[in-house]
Amino acid sequence: MPEPADRVAELQGYHDREVAPCTRCALHRTRTQVVVGSGALDADLMFVGEAPGYHEDQQGIPFVGQSGQLLTTLLEGIGLTRDQVFVANVLKCRPPGNRDPAPAEIRSCEPHLFRQVSLIRPRMVCTLGNFATKLLSGRPDGISRVHGHELPIEVGGHRLLLYPLFHPAAALYTRAMLSTLEADFARIPELLGGAAPASASAGPAAATPVPVPVEAAPPPPAPPVAPPADEQLGLF
Ligand code: URA
Repeated sequence: MPEPADRVAELQGYHDREVAPCTRCALHRTRTQVVVGSGALDADLMFVGEAPGYHEDQQGIPFVGQSGQLLTTLLEGIGLTRDQVFVANVLKCRPPGNRDPAPAEIRSCEPHLFRQVSLIRPRMVCTLGNFATKLLSGRPDGISRVHGHELPIEVGGHRLLLYPLFHPAAALYTRAMLSTLEADFARIPELLGGAAPASASAGPAAATPVPVPVEAAPPPPAPPVAPPADEQLGLF
């Protein structure tokens, strides 16, 4: 396994050569720019959202709009800054009109996210909302069922703790969801302390890693806290 500094250099090169100029799907025709991700390239903690919105597409930085402000506030609440974590999305380009990511777009873009995870090697990845949670867990369970339930997974030979959370945009709509998100967020420091940092296997990470659950999932939690108020957003 390359040294951390080598992995940072490799990821920077990957971002510059493969992600920033990406034309793997048709979203490259409508985007202003690719939103690669932001933060520490060797972070212990990573957040994965859905896709850039208007402001992210304009600025080239993930989570800079209203939901980004909430994410920043929640991070500050557990003593962290945006610079100390890495923030990315399932899709690196904005879907026109902020529509849901299409399955084919997710398939085209997922190698970028898997490569980011396998080079950053975070101890824990918090998925924000349904799209990131389903992609990285490899399971169909919706976020209303699995939020707050950590799941060990493996990406590219790297073991980490997956921790699904409601998307901050959903919490902006519903007070109860905000309380749930805050409560789930409050467990991050404790979970991060116990998250396994070790390699799951020797040897280099696969070029296109696939997430593999390495332990049985916890029993399904109680019914959703709030009813799916806006299915169209795909956030619940
Ligand atoms: N919502 C997301 O999922 N990602 C962003 O970057 C902004 C809003």
